[in-house]
Amino acid sequence: MDHFQYQDGQLMAEDVALTDIAEQVGTPVYVYSTATLKRHFRVFREAFATVNPLICFAVKANSNQAVLTTLAREGAGADVVSLGELMRATKASIPGERIVFSGVGKTDEEMEAALRVDIKQFSVESEAELEALNIVAGRVGKVAPVSIRVNPDVDAMTHAKISTGKSENKFGIAWQKADAVYGRIKELPNVKAVAVNLHIGSQLTKLEPFREAFERVLGLVRELRAKGHDIKHVDLGGGLGIPYDPAAATPPAPSAYGEMILEVMGDMDCDIILEPGRLIAGNAGLLLTRTIYEKQGENRTFYIVDAAMNDLARPAMYDAYHAIVPVTEPSDGKTVTADFVGPVCESSDVFARDRKTPALKSGDLVAIKSAGAYGAVMASTYNSRPLVPEVLVNGNTFEVIRRRQSLEDLLALDSIPSWLED
Ligand code: LLP
Repeated sequence: MDHFQYQDGQLMAEDVALTDIAEQVGTPVYVYSTATLKRHFRVFREAFATVNPLICFAVKANSNQAVLTTLAREGAGADVVSLGELMRATKASIPGERIVFSGVGKTDEEMEAALRVDIKQFSVESEAELEALNIVAGRVGKVAPVSIRVNPDVDAMTHAKISTGKSENKFGIAWQKADAVYGRIKELPNVKAVAVNLHIGSQLTKLEPFREAFERVLGLVRELRAKGHDIKHVDLGGGLGIPYDPAAATPPAPSAYGEMILEVMGDMDCDIILEPGRLIAGNAGLLLTRTIYEKQGENRTFYIVDAAMNDLARPAMYDAYHAIVPVTEPSDGKTVTADFVGPVCESSDVFARDRKTPALKSGDLVAIKSAGAYGAVMASTYNSRPLVPEVLVNGNTFEVIRRRQSLEDLLALDSIPSWLED
């Protein structure tokens, strides 16, 4: 359930008309709903009510300070993958004890910064990283809490570009090898094992791959404990899918996911960490864009909108489906079949192909839905298109939470070398 609904023929974000946002902020613009963010977080938390897990929002999904602060106030922790994300999480007042650090290429600088704020867990992804972390922690005078990210070699049955739990993926350490790496942790003075973690992929629409992977990892936890490792918690990652296409099968509800986890966990006596990203933010945001032209091609209709693949990369990158709806509800029920495309000079700059849609004319606003996760965060300035603004709605008010990048901002990053001056 999200809070983007039609009211008197106008698409609203909570109690704010999207036309008002377009008028005041311009297009394209990302619009997020506070009520939806909070609702998704609460529904997810309630799915695990009996065990009270630490829910570390995957900051990569949406790293805006206002979004992070909204979730932090609900009790969210953060899953971060870079110094930038760590800074964003701490600036949003998320304490170190609610931060986990994932990623295959942590640098010494990143490790040091994370040690200084006493994060909950380093999700270590290679032996080399473990050795490096031991050295950095020694230098900083701390003992780093380590979880080995285990690669369970399970097919997540999702898009190849967002699958992470197969042996051919760069992520984690093969589960068969994990035992030896935990043995190595015992030999190192500045690291200690506290957890086991995994993350097998994103936008999973079935529970079976999760179950298979979790069972494998919990078997490992039992073995490690039997060998005297003090495994306090398991971090089961993120990945639960969301409905993008109303005509497609609905992914499992958080409640079903929660039940499955509690069933698999049995009487493990282990705290649980979860790292949802998309589930919290995906359907809490949309990209509002204006139709620039209608163009009749040889045998198809193109709606050329002012947003493009640099603003929302998912359709071009993963052939992702995003629903596209007119902001003013059509009254006549007539539909056409059209392609929604952006102005970027790439054939892949297509938001939707052969989409049944109410007929539009130039100037009409449309909303590209489910764009709250992996939308603004993946934007680029390709074709020298400035980053678009983000707006957060709360009830009947809204505020800009990231201003539109100006062309001056964009150009200011370049400089002319001395030999080209004058
Ligand atoms: N934890 C780890 C270690 C991750 O790598 C990810 C996502 C998550 C948690 C959150 O997963 P979620 O709950 O959001 O599925 N850009 C792609 C998605 C990439 C996901 C990367 N890792 C997309 O737009 O579909």
